[in-house]
Amino acid sequence: MDTVLVTGGVGYIGSQTCKLLHQSGFTPVAFDNLSTGNKENAKWGPLVRGDVHDRDQLKHAIKLWQPVCVIHFAASAYVGESTVDPRKYYNNNVAGILSLLDTCIEVKLRNIVFSSSCATYGIPTKLPIAEGSPQVPINPYGRTKLIGEMMLKDYASAYSLRYVALRYFNAAGADIDGELRERHDPETHLIPRALMAAAGRISELIVFGDDYDTPDGTCIRDYVHVTDLAQAHVSAVQHLIAGGKNMVANLGSGQGTSVQQIIDTIERLTQRRVPVRREARREGDPPALYSDFTVAQSELHFTPRFSDIETIIRTAAPTFGLEVANDILA
Ligand code: UFG
Repeated sequence: MDTVLVTGGVGYIGSQTCKLLHQSGFTPVAFDNLSTGNKENAKWGPLVRGDVHDRDQLKHAIKLWQPVCVIHFAASAYVGESTVDPRKYYNNNVAGILSLLDTCIEVKLRNIVFSSSCATYGIPTKLPIAEGSPQVPINPYGRTKLIGEMMLKDYASAYSLRYVALRYFNAAGADIDGELRERHDPETHLIPRALMAAAGRISELIVFGDDYDTPDGTCIRDYVHVTDLAQAHVSAVQHLIAGGKNMVANLGSGQGTSVQQIIDTIERLTQRRVPVRREARREGDPPALYSDFTVAQSELHFTPRFSDIETIIRTAAPTFGLEVANDILA
């Protein structure tokens, strides 16, 4: 059975990907420093406790497990935090991938799948956003992911590294079988916070800005279910080991949903009120982002199966003690 090294493999998207790798006949080896990952998520293969900055630990894990590919999730991923603590982002996201790529070259591990982001586009000039759109990130997080992509391109041409960079839109939802839960600490993302507010676990949801140039004034995002994202990573690994070309692909649902629409859907599905307080815009937030995912569709056979907002909310709700009755329909 082929082994795949998964940095950040017990994190939110990493653990889902390990599950699907396992189901597809791979042995996922999670490599994680447990700074945000949860070791209870190491259900699908071995867990190596290690840090991507530590080249000796990486080298040791690669020599031991002989992976055919590495998937690099380990990174920091909060837009807001990146504007106030950029050095954390340059350290984890730029120094982290530098250490990983240098180690891969040294030990001749050639295939890498990289977690990039739609945050690399900044404020798009055209919607939906296609891969050829200008990449002008407006926050440090997006800049660090863009640097990662540039490094991959340069390393690929100089050292025959092969890669797939996946630009996620907004990862959301939880494992459809309920085997893994969406859990972040601190939790800053919209859907979990809105569910926490509906469940009374926080007093209110703060809506950051309702004066955007969008139909209801709130920001529009493209929410993509974590299981759909995970499936795309398995396809990317298969693409690389079959000798497929280097590529970059958006991963989204292609649908734009506003903050207000998320709140309305949660209220309808859970039959609870989401208490809301409206505040000023959050720094670094583009007004609207949604994807053109035709490259992923044609090259990686990507089809979003669980990325409608209702399924995302239905799967995420139990984490916060909320149930969505089956007879509540679309
Ligand atoms: N929002 C609120 N209140 C909250 C949290 C979020 O109004 O309590 C709003 C934000 O302002 C934004 C939208 O909800 O308009 C979504 O915000 P999230 O924090 O859930 O997600 P982001 O779009 O900021 O960031 C996420 C990932 C990034 C990724 C980005 C791409 O965290 O890694 O999507 O859009 F790059």
